[in-house]
Amino acid sequence: MISSGQKSSRASGVREDTILSIEHISKEFSRVRVVDDVSCNIRRGEIMGLIGENGAGKSTLIKIISGIYQPSAGVLQLDGKPVFIPDYITAKSLGIAIVPQEFNLINTLAVFENIFLGNEIRRAGLLNKPRMRDLSAKQLEELKMPVGVNQLVSSLSVAEKQMVEISKALMLHARLLIMDEPTTTLTSREVDTLFTLMRNLKAQGVTMIFVSHKLNEIKAICDRVTVLRDGKLISVDNIGDVDEEDIARRMVGRSNFRQLFPDKLPRSPDTTLLEVEKLSVSGLLEDINFTLRKGEILGFAGLVGSGRTELAESVMGLRTINSGAIKLDGKNVQIKKADDAVRHRLAYLSEDRQGKGIVQGFNLPQNITLISLKNYLKGAFINKSAELEAAGEYIKSFKISAASPRMQLRYLSGGNQQKIYLSRWLDTDPSILMLDEPTRGIDVSAKQEIYTFIHQLAEKGISCIVISSEMEEVIGLCSRVYVMREGKIAGCLEGSHITEEEIMFHATGIKGNI
Ligand SMILES: Nc1ncnc2c1ncn2[C@@H]1O[C@H](COP(=O)(O)OP(=O)(O)OP(=O)(O)O)[C@@H](O)[C@H]1O
Ligand SMILES: [Mg+2]
Repeated sequence: MISSGQKSSRASGVREDTILSIEHISKEFSRVRVVDDVSCNIRRGEIMGLIGENGAGKSTLIKIISGIYQPSAGVLQLDGKPVFIPDYITAKSLGIAIVPQEFNLINTLAVFENIFLGNEIRRAGLLNKPRMRDLSAKQLEELKMPVGVNQLVSSLSVAEKQMVEISKALMLHARLLIMDEPTTTLTSREVDTLFTLMRNLKAQGVTMIFVSHKLNEIKAICDRVTVLRDGKLISVDNIGDVDEEDIARRMVGRSNFRQLFPDKLPRSPDTTLLEVEKLSVSGLLEDINFTLRKGEILGFAGLVGSGRTELAESVMGLRTINSGAIKLDGKNVQIKKADDAVRHRLAYLSEDRQGKGIVQGFNLPQNITLISLKNYLKGAFINKSAELEAAGEYIKSFKISAASPRMQLRYLSGGNQQKIYLSRWLDTDPSILMLDEPTRGIDVSAKQEIYTFIHQLAEKGISCIVISSEMEEVIGLCSRVYVMREGKIAGCLEGSHITEEEIMFHATGIKGNI
């Protein structure tokens, strides 16, 4: 179903309303074919969804369109003419912009400097900073992101960084805007804002390619959807002709779906493992009290910026606590740095895997055993075969797709990097595992594996904290949910009270649909 705003050319059928034609594109890395003879037309003014499992070739394909990679075979045609896009600058000059999956921001520069990086506005040869600040502020305001344009990128949360990347691409006023998983760390409210903006752009005639693992988002915003599997094009459908299950079936190539979330665990015994009392961090957290029971899956919900990540970081010794106490098994513990936390068998999977997690230049086993390395030492040496064996187990249980475990992590697809990062923390044998956006960028079938795994951990007595922007995830997994608002705990929900309405009520203080 194509929107009425789109001019469809009756006379020549597809041709004239095609902005970009992808013709027999293939891409190989070290003779491994990751995009395999893909042909498809992108129509002028449409939003084309692009979906597929982790490692299916989505990012590679759109990197080819935006000049970051060169195809091994095939051609691209723009407005009916073959084009050669040797680099990103050329793509930009052709009106193609990309919001990349992994951020490309410079931490030491301010927000506005990043937004205009490589696209600076000058006046009489000098940088026109006031104008760049002004335009950046307007753009962020449109995205409803309360970020100061002079703030350093290093001080931003992942969601805020995402919005800066989006603003950066929007500033190019592209005709073809490609977005690689822009919503993975946004809560439903920010996603709504982004979608409103996308609809406005579409009304102005901008064409978009939108990558997401969230089927409901693809259904909500796209006109058509393209499915890739193992580098091959499987289907292109009008969005009205397929439901979420059809799309999922095309993605994974099978139809027997288990339910996404395992059945909830029975109420965990009231043995409190962790108690946080009156914890405050100046300017960020105020008077936080919460308990975590042994073997429970506890959720933390709230809007972006409500303090969930900061709370986990404080418990993990990554932030200086001004006042308050942390008790484990009823005893006060001092956690001043991450090492102290690991010693107490606390683990924290950060939402910022790119900034605070993985080491791009390390291979898979090295990344997995980074914190648990002492378990792999044989005298002064690392027992490489034990390391490889352990990595093999994780690769198998999470179906991590990598040409070889010896490859550097940078060459893994985004979702597979996330699975490696999760494996690392599991390998520390934690008793408390805090997971911040654990399924960021993970495809729908791998999500099932991870949810089942979290359940198994809880059944073994490991206590899990799940911080998630995906309401569905918090509701589907957790036995209790704390909702945060503006650095405080606004409410604690249990059992049948864990609903979208009640969470939103505590997160915003507003009743009803917002
Ligand atoms: N520069 C590279 N060198 C070697 N292999 C690569 C390189 N870039 C990507 N690959 C491989 O190509 C395959 C496809 O990766 P791609 O990033 O396109 O997947 P994706 O569909 O975007 O997945 P995800 O949903 O996880 O982001 C993966 O197996 C990945 O390891
Ligand atoms: Mg990708």
